[in-house]
Amino acid sequence: MAQSKPTAVAPSPTQPQAGNRGTAPAPQIRQTQLFIGGQWRPARSGRTFDTINPATEETIAQVAEGDAADVETAVAAAREAFETGPWARMDARQRGRLMLRLADLIEAEIDELAALEALDNGKPFADARHIDIPLALDALRYYAGWADKIHGQTIPINGNYFCYTRREPVGVAGQIIPWNFPILMVAWKWGPALAAGCTIVMKPAEQTPLTCLRLARLAQKAGIPDGVINVVPGFGPTAGAAIVKHPGIDKVAFTGSGETAQIIMRQAADQLKRLTFELGGKSPNIVFADADLAAAARGAHVGIHLNQGQCCCAGSRLFVEDSIHAEFVEQVVELSRKRRVGDPFDAATEQGPQVDRAQFDKIMGYIAAGKAEGATCATGGRRVGDRGFFIEPTVFTNVRDEMAIAREEIFGPVLSVLKFSDTEELVRRANATNFGLAAAIWTRDIARAHSVARRLRAGTVWVNCYDVFDAAAPFGGFKQSGFGRELGERGLDPYLETKTVTVSLEERHIP
Ligand code: NAI
Ligand code: MG
Repeated sequence: MAQSKPTAVAPSPTQPQAGNRGTAPAPQIRQTQLFIGGQWRPARSGRTFDTINPATEETIAQVAEGDAADVETAVAAAREAFETGPWARMDARQRGRLMLRLADLIEAEIDELAALEALDNGKPFADARHIDIPLALDALRYYAGWADKIHGQTIPINGNYFCYTRREPVGVAGQIIPWNFPILMVAWKWGPALAAGCTIVMKPAEQTPLTCLRLARLAQKAGIPDGVINVVPGFGPTAGAAIVKHPGIDKVAFTGSGETAQIIMRQAADQLKRLTFELGGKSPNIVFADADLAAAARGAHVGIHLNQGQCCCAGSRLFVEDSIHAEFVEQVVELSRKRRVGDPFDAATEQGPQVDRAQFDKIMGYIAAGKAEGATCATGGRRVGDRGFFIEPTVFTNVRDEMAIAREEIFGPVLSVLKFSDTEELVRRANATNFGLAAAIWTRDIARAHSVARRLRAGTVWVNCYDVFDAAAPFGGFKQSGFGRELGERGLDPYLETKTVTVSLEERHIP
């Protein structure tokens, strides 16, 4: 198996080259095979694919490339675990204890996991260590607490009957996740599925398979029975599509692009398979003139640039009230200019590379489109260095609503600033999108905050904050940003069926 140390020092004009790597240990690559039925195995085809370090463009490891044949084996293992294995008979409280143990094992390896995440994804080690993994732990522990609190109701129906409901696991869950928050997406998917008593066939993104495989190892170490969690790395049209089409999979949870979600929905139609989608966004971040402008500027900055802009809920449309526009934009541009881009393992780094060349090219294409359509590139707009997929934090002003950079998801460090003068017009423009994932409002006027929050068509609205996540608070999209919710009590729903049991209380049958 490949052993590798990151050698990335991104050429960057914004920071010294000497790498202060903070507390990051050298990430060890231990798991590169498929994890099926508790065993590590190569793909049936014997094929592998490269996963690369986006900071250096070097190959980190070859990972087993699963396809339909491997998904077949994984589904068989997951079905057996669901129907007859120890998981099927386990007390709910014990399931919760195993989940807590998994969280503890993750926490015990937090530095190493964060380093592996930074290596495979390119995000700053410090972000993985202090944002992604703590949120993942939060989700696992929160849902561990739910495991023994999922119960039905007794219902007073008409007549002499005793009627009650049971909440039962939906079965085998197929889970297909993206590359932007690999560990966190695992936790958001495994948490509710395990709490509900489901078993899992997961496909991590082809760009970032390594931490998911490591988490599967920790799940086994925690005592989660073999076959409950199966991981099949591979590509979307092969391994992913096989999960979607397999009749032994009862439900598919997907996070990623709208285009792929449409393919999945069509392919799942034959079996009327249950689906939940968490898709993209073009979220409005709205700054009224009466806001705390320094706080709003930081919120606008983090709202777009967090995770190299690779966030489904990125505040990519910044609506600024015209009376403060010039002053406010200056602050936002200044923050972008000062943002440190470079080696993910340098403790001073705030922004690493984009995840791969395809994303890099897509973003650079949007930057070119913004310039061509007449927007003003107030800062950024260029590649950083000539190795690795680094892009300058970019802010466009003089953006009009109909421009591509104001309508389409860029998924990179590119902010589009729009001007508004009237609240009615603002609400109409903010909602004039097929997306509806998130929004934010910055104002000191409490009535306006609640009133605009109510009128925005989005699954999450932040007021005087941005990117505040908590495992207890549901997250998901209106409109084409998806359906179903993750996190919170609502996040359990997609993994549960409701069964109604009605018992006659007539005693006439008793002799
Ligand atoms: P994608 O939607 O193609 O990939 C996400 C996951 O779906 C990966 O695991 C991939 O292998 C899998 N997949 C791809 N095709 C599939 C198929 N036919 N059947 C089943 N699974 C399939 O997204 P991609 O290409 O990585 O990124 C494209 C754009 O999507 C990004 O630029 C961004 O705009 C958006 N995106 C949104 C994310 C979100 O968090 N909502 C995450 C990642 C991407
Ligand atoms: Mg990679």
